[in-house]
Amino acid sequence: MALEKVFSPALSGIQAHDEMRQGEAYFSSEISEIKSKKAFIETYGCQMNFSDTEIIASVLIQEGFSFTQNELEADLVLLNTCAIRENAETKVRNRLNALKTAKKHNPGLIVGLMGCMAERLKANVLEQEQLVDLVVGPDAYRDLPKLIRGVEDGQKMVNVLLSREETYADIAPVRLHSNGVTAFISIMRGCDNMCSFCVVPFTRGRERSRDPESILAEAKSLFESGYREVTLLGQNVDSYLYTNEETGTTVNFAGLLERTALISPLLRVRFSTSHPKDITDEVLHTMAAHHNICKYIHLPVQSGNSDILEKMNRGYSREWYLERITRIRTIMPDCGLSTDIISGFCSETEAQHQDTLSIMEAVHFDFAYMFAYSERPGTLAARKYPDDVSEADKKKRLAEIIELQNIHSKQSNLPDIGKTFEVLIEGFSKKSDNDWCGRNSQNKMVVFPRGNSELKPGDYVYVTIETATKATLIGTLVSIGE
Ligand code: SAH
Ligand code: SF4
Ligand code: F3S
Repeated sequence: MALEKVFSPALSGIQAHDEMRQGEAYFSSEISEIKSKKAFIETYGCQMNFSDTEIIASVLIQEGFSFTQNELEADLVLLNTCAIRENAETKVRNRLNALKTAKKHNPGLIVGLMGCMAERLKANVLEQEQLVDLVVGPDAYRDLPKLIRGVEDGQKMVNVLLSREETYADIAPVRLHSNGVTAFISIMRGCDNMCSFCVVPFTRGRERSRDPESILAEAKSLFESGYREVTLLGQNVDSYLYTNEETGTTVNFAGLLERTALISPLLRVRFSTSHPKDITDEVLHTMAAHHNICKYIHLPVQSGNSDILEKMNRGYSREWYLERITRIRTIMPDCGLSTDIISGFCSETEAQHQDTLSIMEAVHFDFAYMFAYSERPGTLAARKYPDDVSEADKKKRLAEIIELQNIHSKQSNLPDIGKTFEVLIEGFSKKSDNDWCGRNSQNKMVVFPRGNSELKPGDYVYVTIETATKATLIGTLVSIGE
């Protein structure tokens, strides 16, 4: 089905759980109740999956669906799933169990499994989960209308074909969970890295980069409809590379970043995820050269021990990682840094775990996502290395990592007291409608009293920090930006 190239602004009825960035998130949304067939979508996993839900929503709207927040009034329930760790899949299975009530309520209800778990399990889902009618992998969302019609005709339908080309470049995402200020743009799909613990290359297929012109058009259109921040998304944004077949010209990530930043000085640009083996000085200099490219890098380290990193097939050593951190801090002394860490990977000894704690001490991350290793069937690690660290040790090490990170997160906020930051207002603070919240360039959440000013989400302000918790900077408004 050909879809019109229209970039839509945010629709209303929004609910998101933004503390759940990776692995275990979910959200649902209501758009309008005008049309006849109603869909209910829940999203689990990383931002790329949330971004895919916006593509799915666009395809469904073209098919005449509207959205509901109440699964009991839905004709179609889609779970856009994650397979990164076993507990991500367990959550989905529990959810499917709970959906039996909705199916009893409406025997005609169609239940679909989308995304990474669908791709990993393929048609086996249909044997394991009787409730599921539809299994659709991340590269097959254009096929949804046909697949839904197949189910309506009484069949179970599966499309888990992975593609080398699909980037959904021409499909305008429907900004379901938007605050109207910040938005995500997928710039690439898949991953070619084959980190030995990771299921993503199997669930998302080969890496491919999206045409920069379509990315820039989407960013520009978002800016024109009031958005003030875009986050460019990919599993490894540093390997973004687009070749124009006609002219032979190429655009790399630094080039894309710069062109996005040039859309307007009032449009902030962020990106995720960077890979320590691929992040270049060119990218760092591009960030430093543009005020509106946020000074924040998420650089997953996974482990602080070089032998474990090699077993993980990460392509860098402890020394390499630390050199990249030094480089980042030399070029951008004020750059915020966060990371991902895995405890208890195959054969990890206590001494190797201590190396992870010591690299955390050496870097002092502002923030971290921390996980116990979860073996994923079919991955290189599952085939090559026994999952031999006991659950108790994985948990104990994870607890130590979390405890240390909590100290670092708090320490990272203390020097900010007394400083003044430019903040982009995103909305009311979670705790009180009397306070605004927004982020500074370093991605730290800043909360400040609204007072009597006529400010609104999307405005830039300057805030002086007075106190801080582990997660938030609290301050007062000093002036209003452009
Ligand atoms: N592309 C990103 C990460 C995507 S997955 C990168 O390369 O950094 C997000 C995080 O989940 C990973 O960084 C890793 O820390 C964690 N993760 C992935 N597979 C895992 C597994 N099998 N067990 C535990 N954590 C895992
Ligand atoms: Fe997984 Fe590694 Fe690719 Fe990240 S870079 S998605 S961890 S294989
Ligand atoms: Fe999960 Fe797939 Fe993202 S496995 S973390 S939803 S790419």
